[in-house]
Amino acid sequence: MTKPTALVTGGSRGIGAATSRELAARGYRVAVNYFSRRESADQVVKLIEADGGEAFAVQADVYDPTQAAELLERSAVDGRLDVLVCNAGARFIPTPVQALAWDDFRTKVTDELASVYTLTQQTLELMGAQGRGRIVYVSSAVADGPPAPGMAAHGTAKAALNTFARFVAHEAGPLGITVNVVAPGYVRTESSARIPQEFQQRLAANTPPGAGRGTGGRGPGDRDARR
Ligand SMILES: NC(=O)c1ccc[n+]([C@@H]2O[C@H](COP(=O)([O-])OP(=O)(O)OC[C@H]3O[C@@H](n4cnc5c(N)ncnc54)[C@H](OP(=O)(O)O)[C@@H]3O)[C@@H](O)[C@H]2O)c1
Repeated sequence: MTKPTALVTGGSRGIGAATSRELAARGYRVAVNYFSRRESADQVVKLIEADGGEAFAVQADVYDPTQAAELLERSAVDGRLDVLVCNAGARFIPTPVQALAWDDFRTKVTDELASVYTLTQQTLELMGAQGRGRIVYVSSAVADGPPAPGMAAHGTAKAALNTFARFVAHEAGPLGITVNVVAPGYVRTESSARIPQEFQQRLAANTPPGAGRGTGGRGPGDRDARR
């Protein structure tokens, strides 16, 4: 039996890096996608290998349809892919709607969907031919949670992702493919560290166990994906 293969977009840092390591620990050969920081991807691959797992780094900009298609091709070892985790999301700076230019809003929503669209299309074809597979989208609790200040673009983009996932699930089910959405609350990563402290605290307060624990000590609600 060959090892099952998983592709994690943005698998080199934050939530994606933790996901890559978890999948490797569960016996998957992991394609660790990154965009610009090769050294982070190499570090994740090294950690996985040190734990006895198998992984390789793959550079691609998932917003670009051509690169996304190539990413899938390079990640599917022997033409096979068992798990796709669409984790790389579009960057944003929390901004109230009144101060947010249409172009910035549009870019955020478009990039979020672009980062999953081509990969999803091609993965459905590949996994459909296999008769099985799993697709997981990393959304955000912000999409369906209480509206957080400055998060309109991010929340709208992730809500669109959630809806997209529901439609994909309907097409994928008969092909033997499951589709799921994971919607984390606030998790400390390099991205979220760039969010102003006040927003971080409000986001942490919106996570069920996390009120008051946003950037402080350790606890079950105090998630930190940098480890
Ligand atoms: N952190 C939170 O509090 C939180 C909460 C809810 C949901 N989420 C969601 O979780 C996901 C991961 O967030 P994170 O905080 O873990 O992010 P992060 O630590 O900033 O990591 C971002 C990852 O995405 C990669 N990436 C960025 N642009 C890319 C592109 N165009 N193509 C391919 N890869 C790209 C980065 O690679 P390089 O380093 O090479 O650029 C890096 O591996 C996102 O979808 C985010 O919206 C995060």
